[in-house]
Amino acid sequence: MTNADFEKLVDTSDEWITTRTGIKERRIADETIFSSDMAAAACKNALEMAKCSGDEIDVLIVGTVTPDYKLPSTACVVQEKINLPNAVAFDVAAACTGFINGLSIADAYISAGVCKKALVVGVEKLSSFTNYKDRNTCVLFGDAAGAVVVEADDSGSGVQSIFMRSDGKMRPLLWAKTGGAVHPYTSEFTFDGSDKITMNGSDVFKVAVKEMANACKNVMERAGVGPEDISLVVPHQANIRIVEALAKRLKVGMDHVFLNIENYGNTSAASVPLALDQANRKGIIKEGDYIMMVAFGGGLIWGSALVKW
Ligand code: UT7
Repeated sequence: MTNADFEKLVDTSDEWITTRTGIKERRIADETIFSSDMAAAACKNALEMAKCSGDEIDVLIVGTVTPDYKLPSTACVVQEKINLPNAVAFDVAAACTGFINGLSIADAYISAGVCKKALVVGVEKLSSFTNYKDRNTCVLFGDAAGAVVVEADDSGSGVQSIFMRSDGKMRPLLWAKTGGAVHPYTSEFTFDGSDKITMNGSDVFKVAVKEMANACKNVMERAGVGPEDISLVVPHQANIRIVEALAKRLKVGMDHVFLNIENYGNTSAASVPLALDQANRKGIIKEGDYIMMVAFGGGLIWGSALVKW
């Protein structure tokens, strides 16, 4: 969907969306494609790139807040679709940081000897969860998936440090209130948008810039690296102004920041792995590079992972 498509839906303009967010278009999955389908496609590509077969995978972790079903996990559906006979599969519901939280679990499992090879996925079908009557949110979101294979080795590459935090008291700033156990759908429910994403954008913006910068500084400090050592920052693509403010706080030039928000918008848990994969396939990432991934989302929750490629 382009900005012109949204001009027909709500009171907005290409000029407002472009200058306030950096978004020009987003990908919308059709009615027959669900999170598990996009995740399965991303997993197949990741396995192929890693030259790894499905039976080698011990654990499949899917970061998503747009699952196929309430029960079971989307990960279990993906497991069947791509045939991972030796894996345990489960979801992580951590909104836009779901991929980083999933990566942290894979890293911990591998370090503890619980598993040797993990598939970590971020996927969202946010179009199923977006109120297309609310101009404050509908112009922001898109559908996508990204996946990585994480495996044990002793080369010193991989996750160097991870930082994660959340603050649950800020949950009304970005949530979907209706549809869970607290506010279940009833026969009286009439659509008021409360079962879709609602957000106080400007409040979320301020916390996002501050906490993503803190998270990045934390992982750099613990890994003993400085901003000059970072080859590429791969940030959650929520708003180009957030990314620019983050880069300024980190003293990292925008030429060291990967952006794809213009073409994909905010894809929540898929945002970081999608950008990482594009940067990798474009040949921007080289062996030995320090890559900083950082994300922020509903919870509120945020986190950063410093990876040596
Ligand atoms: O991924 C999870 C984390 N999410 C984020 O990090 C998102 C953080 N927030 C943001 O990116 C920005 O706050 C937004 C892009 C959501 C909004 O930008 P903003 O510069 O913070 O705008 P605002 O919410 O302060 O609204 C400014 C004005 C308002 O009008 P009034 O009250 O000043 O008359 C809004 O109603 O812009 C209006 N507005 C729009 N106008 C045209 C809001 N959305 C639109 C729109 N088109 N789509």
